[in-house]
Amino acid sequence: MHRVVTLESTGAAKDFTSASQNTVQAMEHCRQLEAGNILLFPQSPIMLAEEDLAFLRGLEHGHRSLHKNLAYKPLQDCIAGAKLESNDPAASERLLRILRSYSRGALQFLTEFLTPYTARWQVDYASFRPLEEQGRALPLHKRNDLLHTDAFPTRPTHGARILRFFTNIHPTQSREWIVGEPFRTLIPQMVPSTTPAPRAEGLLQRAARSTLGHTSLGKAWPALRRSSYDQFMLRFHDVLKENADYQTNGQHTAVSLPPGSSWMVYTDSVPHAVLSGRFALEQTLLVAPDAMVTPEESPLVVLESLAGCRLV
Ligand code: SIN
Ligand code: FE
Repeated sequence: MHRVVTLESTGAAKDFTSASQNTVQAMEHCRQLEAGNILLFPQSPIMLAEEDLAFLRGLEHGHRSLHKNLAYKPLQDCIAGAKLESNDPAASERLLRILRSYSRGALQFLTEFLTPYTARWQVDYASFRPLEEQGRALPLHKRNDLLHTDAFPTRPTHGARILRFFTNIHPTQSREWIVGEPFRTLIPQMVPSTTPAPRAEGLLQRAARSTLGHTSLGKAWPALRRSSYDQFMLRFHDVLKENADYQTNGQHTAVSLPPGSSWMVYTDSVPHAVLSGRFALEQTLLVAPDAMVTPEESPLVVLESLAGCRLV
């Protein structure tokens, strides 16, 4: 069973990054992540002002749009979709400023901490997660309390890895997760050993046939084209959530993420679910496959060796 690797410090980002200037240490952190571990910082290295945290936690009262996660797009410097439905431009501006500051702080920290990946990633969205996760009424495939690996319907990665950095900004409550065995050990269990090749090929070939690349939208917007890999990963997300036996009996372990902590994990290969907790911030990175220090752990390499063909 994999582990949570706890990195103690006084909470100052430089405590971590100066330690990580040691290349061997930084490589070890990457290796731990790629092996399916969660790196946990009991005291977040990302500092936000207490009044900004209080502002985020207080938003729900005045803003009906806070019925779901808010996404911040760092490259466009804007908040996607739901804007604050208030006539309070100062509040909207403040929200933007806080999410921008979190995103920049997280990116700066990760640039210095995970040096083997530096400049080898695409910056994806950040998010603010304001809702209590326990008891959220969501359709099955959108439920966060069922074990799943992440795949983005609108943002195919073509084998790039989904690395997410979270911060629990609840003042007192832990965020309660469960995590399962990572992709490389999970996938052989999902494809029965008696007939591995035909089952795997069938799933992968079906995935290959129905790529968005064949549609006019995919042709107009090459970035939206899904590779066979992306199609498989999307389907695998659903397959895990649909599998009641896996949800109940699959090997998993509880992970408690304390208030004020940050943690990071490859959510495309580590099955995870959030059972309870509210108020979290998060930054996503898409790390280039050839930046991996142990490529054999990556879902793309695992799937390609199973399928016996290229999937991107
Ligand atoms: C998820 O990625 O499934 C949700 C994680 C969280 O919000 O804690
Ligand atoms: Fe997820």
